[in-house]
Amino acid sequence: MTLGLGIRSLLAQSVVYLMGGPPGPETIINGRRCLYFGGTGYYAFQEHPELIRAAHEALDKYGMHTATSRNIYGTTPLYREVEEKAAQFFGTEDAVYLPSGYLSNIAGFQGLIQTGQYDMFVVDAEPHWSISDFIYAMRKPVYTFAHGDPDDLRKQLKAHVQAGERPLVVSDGIFPTFGVVAPIREYFQAVEPYQGAIWIDDAHGVGVLGAHGRGTYEYYGLASDNLFFGGTLSKSVGGHGGIVPGKKNLVQAIRAGHIVNGANASPSPAAAAAVQGMTLLMEHPELRERLWMNARTLKAGLKQLGFPMQDSPVPIAAWRLKSGEEMDRIHAELLKREICIQRTRYVGGGPEGALRAVVFATHTTGQIERLLAELKSLV
Ligand SMILES: Cc1ncc(COP(=O)(O)O)c(C=O)c1O
Repeated sequence: MTLGLGIRSLLAQSVVYLMGGPPGPETIINGRRCLYFGGTGYYAFQEHPELIRAAHEALDKYGMHTATSRNIYGTTPLYREVEEKAAQFFGTEDAVYLPSGYLSNIAGFQGLIQTGQYDMFVVDAEPHWSISDFIYAMRKPVYTFAHGDPDDLRKQLKAHVQAGERPLVVSDGIFPTFGVVAPIREYFQAVEPYQGAIWIDDAHGVGVLGAHGRGTYEYYGLASDNLFFGGTLSKSVGGHGGIVPGKKNLVQAIRAGHIVNGANASPSPAAAAAVQGMTLLMEHPELRERLWMNARTLKAGLKQLGFPMQDSPVPIAAWRLKSGEEMDRIHAELLKREICIQRTRYVGGGPEGALRAVVFATHTTGQIERLLAELKSLV
């Protein structure tokens, strides 16, 4: 099976909503103030005064950005600070800052091929586009396993890995549309006999899962030199850009590679905001507790309405109704009541897509209850 590129889903998403303020429990959509459950800025750091102050200061000091790639003159102390802070946050030897989370995957693949001698990719059949867009460019065989299915992963490994070959298993840590955590512990057990490794795109896990917010591996209590990941600083962290934390040799390989040398880094204000976001997440573990509590409140309420939900602290909840038209109707009705959830056709949502609500740490229980009550009156 060959992975699709998701173009059909993109074309289907034709209605445009204009966001007139930063994402938070409330924002402005199409000129109206709404209760907002529509995005993935899990701590609403995008509107946090300390991030905004840090971003202003960086803008004054460094201007917008360096206008050349990192290994020429384009490394300011700020970019170094992002990497040092990220290494501290994730408890790794080092970290490399990339222009986007989307690019973390290709940067990670390139770095791992150079440093790890992997012979093939074995990838979940419904990965984020930032995986499927790039994995075929790596000039290695690519095999797929059924979405989220460790048994099929075992079968594919048995069928394709020859003696002496090392597979690299690739998946999202959290699948973004339904917020489902991939069964990484089972994947790890499956790949260990082959001396293989795992790469996850942990865009939605970092800052959210695990006691320190280090992501999906920490959530499962997994630690090994054969577990690799990339993430984004745009969601939970409130800044912008991608990050690959890890051992020095991998980080150096990525730093010396095409992405870091061929693309401008994220703008300086965004880098400063990312440093501040990670600092806040380290200093305030209670924010994570609050986020998890809100996630549980939302999911418990949705379960009561009859929608199946994975039992996890992931703050993303999505569900399908009997038809696309019915989902369009509920979405539009909620918007009329100034409640904004997503009518999504994002990756993994299937042909009809889904309804998707995301909670922040800063939503009040009352705001979540209001969403649930309005939904109940409509479905
Ligand atoms: C699973 C996943 N990976 C990667 C990305 C890309 O991250 P970024 O926006 O930092 O490029 C996203 C973005 O929403 C995502 O959902």
